Amino acid sequence: MSAGDTPRRLNVVVGVTGGIAAYKAVGIVRAFVLAGHDVHVVATENALRFVGRPTLEAISRNLVQSDLYEGVAEVKHVAIGQAADLIVVAPATANSIAKIAGGFADDVLGNTILASSAPVIIAPAMHTEMWQNPATQANVQLLRDRGVVIVGPAVGQLTGADSGPGRMSDVDDIVAAALGTVTAQDLVGRRILVTAGGTREPLDPVRFIGNRSSGRQGVAIAIAAAARGAEVTLIAANLEVESPSSIRVISVGTTSELAEAVATEAQTHDVVIMAAAVADYRPEHVAESKIKKDAQGDVLDLRLVRNPDILKSIAEHRLPGQLIVGFAAETEPDDVKLLAIGREKITRKGSDLLIINRVGWTEGFATQNNTISVIDSSGTIVGEATGTKLSVANRILDLVSAR
Ligand code: C5P
Repeated sequence: MSAGDTPRRLNVVVGVTGGIAAYKAVGIVRAFVLAGHDVHVVATENALRFVGRPTLEAISRNLVQSDLYEGVAEVKHVAIGQAADLIVVAPATANSIAKIAGGFADDVLGNTILASSAPVIIAPAMHTEMWQNPATQANVQLLRDRGVVIVGPAVGQLTGADSGPGRMSDVDDIVAAALGTVTAQDLVGRRILVTAGGTREPLDPVRFIGNRSSGRQGVAIAIAAAARGAEVTLIAANLEVESPSSIRVISVGTTSELAEAVATEAQTHDVVIMAAAVADYRPEHVAESKIKKDAQGDVLDLRLVRNPDILKSIAEHRLPGQLIVGFAAETEPDDVKLLAIGREKITRKGSDLLIINRVGWTEGFATQNNTISVIDSSGTIVGEATGTKLSVANRILDLVSAR
């Protein structure tokens, strides 16, 4: 088992309160279920105006609790809280935050929180004015002082035309923060730099040469490392997934932008994990305006030049004690040959660890799951993992942590 994996199947209570972000609670429930946990939704009556009970029951695979006076014989108002390992309130409206801070118990959620000794994670979602109101701020501070973990809110587009702080944090951030309360904090004090996504090399102002990397594996490593206590910087190249709002993100587009960001950031990080798919070549000339087919005829010749190898360069100039981790995404179908490619690559690039993963039309890139082998600089296989990109991320971080 990975140190980053939660030790067992958790009983997770997801409290859903009555705000428009309630529809996103479905994604939170789903993420916990997919991670193997037993999820019980406790919804306020108003939450069920925004999101349907059947949706929450189908996704959580359990009945939704919303009525204090239903199933009284089971002493539900205390039983749910007593059995919970984790309580996540998302979205939490200004009203629900005030009620939780005040210890109100006029609904199932209020009772559940009062009857529980489990960690409580609250993800506020409301309009900026309501969030910034001194009443809300005082309630949030009171909850923080009592050890409640507040995630967000994020800054961004709100329900109306306005934007500002108040938007509920991303599902992945909320889930990672929640699991972080019951996850080993073995990376506290470590600074980890992760690259994710795929670089794009422009041909002209509207076109590029790119690759199919979605950035999911790199983002999962960043999220998992932060959940395990690390201070994380994510260098993000053209991500298809949202980057977590709780993590410091530097956005780049091309390989040279990535190279520059890595060169700077590597100076202040203990670990560099190069998960990004970096273009090996770029067009020799970038056209100032759109390349016109009329001017080209039937054949368009492109001349490409080699990009610098960032991984090789940072491995050569590594700081004392710095750990460098590279990736080898290869289409080779044969396991023995794949390993041989990995061994040749780690020797050539000089990283401390190399994550070998097979990619193809349906594997590795742009998928939810991944299968990897990890080799060290002697070419020995030091770890293997198959599963969600988050579980694979945790396995990689186990090997990092052990070093
Ligand atoms: O040689 P290959 O592209 O397979 O190497 C993959 C590893 O090297 C990845 O960790 C990738 O981030 C890194 N890389 C790099 N600079 C390049 C090409 C790849 O740092 N120009």
